Amino acid sequence: MIKIINLYKSFNNKPVLQGIDLEIYDGETITIMGGSGQGKTVLLKTIVGLIKPDKGQILIDGIDITRSDKKTLYMLQKKFGYLFQNSSLFDSMNVFENVAFGLRYLNLSKEEIERRVKMYLSYVNLYNVENLYPSELSGGMKKRVALARAIAYNPSYILYDEPTTGLDPQTAETVTDLIISLQQKLKVTSIIVTHDIKAAIKVSQRVALLHNGKIVAIEEGKTLLFSKNPFVQEFISAALINYG
Ligand SMILES: Nc1ncnc2c1ncn2[C@@H]1O[C@H](COP(=O)(O)OP(=O)(O)O)[C@@H](O)[C@H]1O
Ligand SMILES: [Mg+2]
Repeated sequence: MIKIINLYKSFNNKPVLQGIDLEIYDGETITIMGGSGQGKTVLLKTIVGLIKPDKGQILIDGIDITRSDKKTLYMLQKKFGYLFQNSSLFDSMNVFENVAFGLRYLNLSKEEIERRVKMYLSYVNLYNVENLYPSELSGGMKKRVALARAIAYNPSYILYDEPTTGLDPQTAETVTDLIISLQQKLKVTSIIVTHDIKAAIKVSQRVALLHNGKIVAIEEGKTLLFSKNPFVQEFISAALINYG
């Protein structure tokens, strides 16, 4: 379980996170929504220990990642798969090497690495692409390779930062369906950051809304559109205008 307690983070006196409290239950998929610049990426990076908060705690299975020494931090970070906002594949490595990247640290045989890379690529419906380079891939394929890389460590938690942003609607739908199938296959706990309301409703049990540095609403995914919460209503109508 992940427990976020009274979390604060400012950059150059500009407050971003202002007292976040949120529990993420084992096995659930939760979506964090919020407008651009509200601190969604900062929150994800803080959860995995890439950003140090000014105040507050984040307990990962009971251990506070914000105050852990290097060794503990490393141990905790191995529990996470992270799909970064821009996919961030290594351009100089081909698909095989990108997916195998994290596996190199696990002392596996060459054959085992090859077997796993193939397996994880098949999970994201990619076949015979091992020798291609990121520049040769479409946006949707890049996302899927990044997804295969994120799950290759066998994480307990997968964090997705805007997994469908920048994709055409059909590819976005494919990626959303993939997230659901990975969820069922791997039984992981997932945190998704997105402003794609359709995707949020489809994949998540709960949706949390981040606004002015706080979680202002937590709703069930399936009843999100019927929420009486004014922040949620405002977010939904703004999203309908902005993103069609
Ligand atoms: N490393 C950083 N240094 C300074 N400001 C940052 C840094 N990272 C994020 N910010 C600021 O924090 C705010 C929230 O950013 P971000 O989490 O990326 O928003 P979003 O909700 O769009 O993901 C933005 O105003 C951004 O400029
Ligand atoms: Mg972001």
